[in-house]
Amino acid sequence: MKPIVIPGSNYRFESRRLAEYIDADFTDTLFKTFPDGESYVRVVDANKVRDRDVIIANTMFPNQNSSFVETLLIIDSIRRLGARRIVLFVPYLAYARQDKVFLEGEPVSIKVVLEAFRNAGSNYLITIDTHNPQALSYFGEGAYNVLVIDKLFENISGMVKNPIILAPDKGALHRARYLSEKYGFNSSYLEKRRDRVTGEVSYEAVDIDVTGRDVVIVDDIISTGGTIATASSILLEKGARRVYVLATHGLFIDNAIEKLRKSGIYKIVVANTVGFRVSDDIVSYVDVLENASQVIEEIIL
Ligand code: R5P
Repeated sequence: MKPIVIPGSNYRFESRRLAEYIDADFTDTLFKTFPDGESYVRVVDANKVRDRDVIIANTMFPNQNSSFVETLLIIDSIRRLGARRIVLFVPYLAYARQDKVFLEGEPVSIKVVLEAFRNAGSNYLITIDTHNPQALSYFGEGAYNVLVIDKLFENISGMVKNPIILAPDKGALHRARYLSEKYGFNSSYLEKRRDRVTGEVSYEAVDIDVTGRDVVIVDDIISTGGTIATASSILLEKGARRVYVLATHGLFIDNAIEKLRKSGIYKIVVANTVGFRVSDDIVSYVDVLENASQVIEEIIL
């Protein structure tokens, strides 16, 4: 029997396309919010689930908290309907940045999220370019991180000349290395400082020579845009020819686009991992469902 894809409310359109990629059936989910704010879900074709592999596809931005609850509710209903295996595809995994206790008294939020997904009944979890791939061990066996930075690069490969690949902080270096090793470019990282209370970003003196060079900054998330805008301004001041940005998840909070534009960035490329798109000529979207579907197929075939 073919596997079946079941969408969360944040990722309905992409879920249908995912089903086409992996040649699976698709059945919709009904969602509503009760007057007091609680979430309700119901799988429409409940009789199609028993003994089948089910892929639940939902992303956790926007509305991280309600999409978390909604995803848990869908997992529970699928488990109760007797699915054979449950593969949870969450392209944007929220709470991934709180992967440790930075200040005493804080939780390890990603641990809470991943353990909840596992305990609700997911057998596998697939995400795209999560902040810290090692944190996926909180899910246990069966968690996969799909790096797509190389796919994002294809979008600008015809525009850049012998670029330097830069991570905006040490934590993002694995992405820069992945890309530079694949294409034979040089890579490095900037020493970022973030004030843990105000969130403000600053950089140590940059001692990489970028004069006349194209620079490609690679990161997982653009949220307020502060990290990338600050890095870009410094690099252009130091004589970079153009700054390009590859960031997997474009959250673009508030005036992020304006901030990024003002910093002089030439082009920003993001993936289709969240539940909306901004429309701005500086931003391009790349479809990464095919990358995810390859991993899903390896698991269920
Ligand atoms: C932080 O370590 C992440 O990798 C991103 O660099 C960060 O979340 C981006 O946030 P913002 O756009 O608000 O600076």
